[in-house]
Amino acid sequence: MDLKADFETHFGIAHTRWATHGVPNAVNSHPQRSDKRNEFVVIHNGIITNYKDLKKFLETKGYEFESETDTETIPKLIKYMYDNRESEEISFSALVERVISQLEGAFALVFKSIHYPGEAIATRRGSPLLIGVRSKYKLSTEQIPVLYRTCNIENVKKICKTRMKRLDSSTCLHAIGDKAVEFFFASDASAIIEHTNRVIFLEDDDIAAVADGKLSIHRLKRSASDDPSRVIQTLQMELQQIMKGNFSAFMQKEIFEQPESVVNTMRGRVNFETKSVLLGGLKDHLKEIRRCRRLIIIGCGTSYHAAVATRQVLEELTELPVMVELASDFLDRNTPVFRDDVCFFISQSGETADTLMALRYCKDRGALTVGITNTVGSSISRETDCGVHINAGPEIGVASTKAYTSQFISLVMFGLMMSEDRISLQIRRQEIISGLQMLPEMIKEVLSLDEKIHDLALELYKQRSLLVMGRGYNYATCLEGALKIKEITYMHSEGILAGELKHGPLALVDKHMPVIMVIMKDACFTKCQNALQQVVARQGRPIILSSREDTESSKFAYKTIELPHIVDCLQGVLSVIPLQLLSFHLAVLRGYDVDFPRNLAKSVTVE
Ligand code: G6P
Repeated sequence: MDLKADFETHFGIAHTRWATHGVPNAVNSHPQRSDKRNEFVVIHNGIITNYKDLKKFLETKGYEFESETDTETIPKLIKYMYDNRESEEISFSALVERVISQLEGAFALVFKSIHYPGEAIATRRGSPLLIGVRSKYKLSTEQIPVLYRTCNIENVKKICKTRMKRLDSSTCLHAIGDKAVEFFFASDASAIIEHTNRVIFLEDDDIAAVADGKLSIHRLKRSASDDPSRVIQTLQMELQQIMKGNFSAFMQKEIFEQPESVVNTMRGRVNFETKSVLLGGLKDHLKEIRRCRRLIIIGCGTSYHAAVATRQVLEELTELPVMVELASDFLDRNTPVFRDDVCFFISQSGETADTLMALRYCKDRGALTVGITNTVGSSISRETDCGVHINAGPEIGVASTKAYTSQFISLVMFGLMMSEDRISLQIRRQEIISGLQMLPEMIKEVLSLDEKIHDLALELYKQRSLLVMGRGYNYATCLEGALKIKEITYMHSEGILAGELKHGPLALVDKHMPVIMVIMKDACFTKCQNALQQVVARQGRPIILSSREDTESSKFAYKTIELPHIVDCLQGVLSVIPLQLLSFHLAVLRGYDVDFPRNLAKSVTVE
């Protein structure tokens, strides 16, 4: 291989693939190509749902497919359109426009072609895409006017003059860029932050073209609600935030960041002196939210568990019915949604396809939509009416940890803000706010149990299965703990509601099955003791996460991990941490890559 020639290029495209169609192997990897000459090459994040029809059509035209991917239809379709163009002069972006008009599903795409040297085109629909901009010099503009079709230079000048009077036509003409500017296309800002923190978030059906070092953006179709420009935003993210530091894995670093990340979630929002809470992103909609008839909280995976964890305290503080929903199931059921519902969308990435679809579904039905995300500029944060940024900092490990505790706290803060005027709830509110204040120190105490949890992992790592049982405020901890174990250790694990023990799960209990029981000093304590007795009576070996104030449970425990006691509705923030740590140690002992578990992706942008 001629390395020099390889590195003389001014442009490269690559994609880490989460396989929707076809196994992960060389032939299915991206870029996918139109033919052996690589006339057109494409990388794609998303899923093309009508690829079978497109493939059938292209096969009738003589195209032979090499891979099992849905993506391969795209480079072949663009080549077909190029070969059948009616005029010699067709531009690259006009071709891309024609291609995406035929695509169904979700996509972020980058195209290159030997027919258009020095040019690249990127576009999106349903999958995230941003452009990083790096330049040593001050750019002539921070705004890029959006054009409505691929035009010749004179047309561009005309459009720009009328639409964006503030900018001179030459600025508009190239939008931004010259040889001193570099552009990066990426699905997520963390991929490019080491190069630049200046980004443009593209909207669905934006077509971004880089030609001879200049960037321009135009829309597939004109719509009345379109913003006439895309602004270059400066992200607060630091490179250091996405580096591992002294930790062996991002997940471990993120678990240990929780004393700070929860502070960042509360900063400027909770006033511990006056015992009040103000979420700036929701304050203008508070009246409307207070008038609603129910709250629906929707998410996937860990984000859904944050909703389960806070449901009870939200019901108590808002005095409203609260539904918690897995986005996919919510959509499958065509759940009735009304104009006077308030729908929350919980998502670390802000890009999860199922959650995003559920958001659009609720919006179409006139509900007020609220986003709770960790990613500024994400689709969910942009498409919701209002929201809360959880400020946990970038989360890289696929298994979510610090985002969970920050989502948890954000939802509790929402409940507190809603109950500000309820006289009957003042004592309870104060108790919770004091709990929030103590949380960072208590999280540190729980993290200091790490060695003990490592020892427990040494005993458990060869097991095939682990049950995690609890109820009430700590049921979500069981679901989330079991999910962590499944995700990164590949052991079978189930979160079991202790109240359901006798309706099935008890049959799994014998002297070989490890059972983790979360038993805290709250209203469910006695009921949890009953469950403990039932497990012990079947010779089970309960490993108990207990409250330090509890002197009873340890008598029956095979092992006990004692946690500091905090107000009942916040106990779940503490009780989940030993399970995060346990899953981490189990995965390391079993020899797995903690941050990148097989078959999973951090941000699932396909349905
Ligand atoms: C994926 C990740 C999970 C995450 C879920 C929801 O499955 O592997 O860790 O909880 O998506 O992601 P979101 O970004 O919407 O919170």
